[in-house]
Amino acid sequence: MSSLSSEADKRRTFAIISHPDAGKTTLTEKLLLFGGAIQLAGTVKGRKASRHATSDWMALEQQRGISITSSVMQFPYKDRIVNLLDTPGHEDFSEDTYRTLTAVDSALMVIDCAKGVEQRTVKLMEVCRLRDTPIMTFINKLDREGREPVDLLDEIESVLGIECSPVTWPIGMGRSLKGVYHLLQDRIYLYTQAGRQKASQIEVIDGLDSAAATQVLGSEADAFREEIELVRGACPELNIADYLAAKQSPVFFGSAISNFGVRELLDEFVEHAPPPRNRESEQRVVETHEDKLTGFVFKIQANMDPGHRDRIAFMRICSGEFQKGMKVLHVRSGKEIKIPDAITFMAADRQHTEHAYAGDIIGIHNHGTINIGDSFSQGEDIKFAGIPSFAPEIFRRAVLKDPLRLKALQKGLAQLCEEGATQLFKPMRNNDLILGAVGPLQFDVVAHRLADEYKVTCLFETISVATARWVECDDDKMLAEFQRKAHDNLALDHGDNLVYIAPTRVNLSLTEERWPDIRFRATREY
Ligand code: G4P
Repeated sequence: MSSLSSEADKRRTFAIISHPDAGKTTLTEKLLLFGGAIQLAGTVKGRKASRHATSDWMALEQQRGISITSSVMQFPYKDRIVNLLDTPGHEDFSEDTYRTLTAVDSALMVIDCAKGVEQRTVKLMEVCRLRDTPIMTFINKLDREGREPVDLLDEIESVLGIECSPVTWPIGMGRSLKGVYHLLQDRIYLYTQAGRQKASQIEVIDGLDSAAATQVLGSEADAFREEIELVRGACPELNIADYLAAKQSPVFFGSAISNFGVRELLDEFVEHAPPPRNRESEQRVVETHEDKLTGFVFKIQANMDPGHRDRIAFMRICSGEFQKGMKVLHVRSGKEIKIPDAITFMAADRQHTEHAYAGDIIGIHNHGTINIGDSFSQGEDIKFAGIPSFAPEIFRRAVLKDPLRLKALQKGLAQLCEEGATQLFKPMRNNDLILGAVGPLQFDVVAHRLADEYKVTCLFETISVATARWVECDDDKMLAEFQRKAHDNLALDHGDNLVYIAPTRVNLSLTEERWPDIRFRATREY
């Protein structure tokens, strides 16, 4: 195998999905501890505060350095290179999450053992299903009383529609938690409350039938052995092919906060999670082991360092090798660009990238030339498909405090909208600037960032817009006619695409009925 292929095969690129509060941030931190990427717990702030009040988010903003660099985290583990992509937990940021999920090869689902499958988990699972993303499950917070493990597996199977195969099984829960039993290894991992801060060693007992196991399990030994018999009989065996085909989820139990069950998860993860997968483009399937570099941008982050007005495009490499200073084709513009200063994100650090391979994420500095969804190659006309943009659900009009700052407002809004979380619409009939978002928190975030990063004070005023649809039509004449008749409800988005702004849902249905040959699309691909 060429060294290029073996580098790619070492990569494990994934994201953690969960309902807020299930323990994603805590688990991320523990994985980084095991990966040696951080030394002490409490280092990863994630974007946890985004689920709290806006004021918390703003306070967190002041630590942006930490929260943003941790949006991609690379660390070595055993002989693998793990790339963990962070996704914001709050549903107001779900667009960002959906796009990030297009850049991973697998996902890790965290479930709270007391709460089971929650609403965000269902939604995120649907997104994973669009690309048949393989999923491992971590059932968290075993140190607290939770629901029966069998119940939890039943719920995952019935609500999420995926078969579960337990790899570890809890011995007790809450105050009576003794450890977990590893069904594949026939080993007991004993629970101790120590080691919250560090990647500590856990005591292990070989063999459920051993004398040591009998001693540890005490009077419950026979009952637990019987339980395991039942579990083995009732649950499907781990089948890696089914896992890779997204039909079965290997399930682990643990307590992220006590650092328990996490290493067992990580060990199986690096062993079985898929290496970078081949990826479809509009032209052909691009294979991971191809020599030439290809990649696509799934995220833009403006002003990561407010002092420097920088703008970073996050590119997922799909094939080939990135080398510092190389020239690549920016397919949309047709221009070759040189990338002298790409960055790799380590846990609390960024480094200049010398080499990167399929599965890796690199950050490319740019001044607005690169957009979400852009593809890169070494000369070939390749466009990777499947980066969705959803019609926003809430609309507000930007009202400027100081009219002289209009230029700065336009620039700020345009740049922040390029990040993809909010969308800017310019109505045809006046000079309003309408911002659309998936969740209300977005407006506070944009207002805060406009003030902080662009020195513009602005309010977002409620307007009577129910929804928006991208308008398409193959017949130019009809489109022109529609543009004339529906002029007052039309706008351009920040990419100058035509959008119908519907004051009510009823208005949208009537318009759709009236114009059957026009397509009104609720999603758009970048
Ligand atoms: P999230 O990113 O999915 O939103 O969850 P996060 O890790 O922030 O965890 C949410 C809360 O659950 C936190 O408590 C965290 O300490 C707690 N938690 C995470 N894992 C475990 C676990 O294994 N056992 C128990 N008992 N709790 C866990 P918090 O009170 O909201 O925050 P904090 O003050 O503890 O930081």
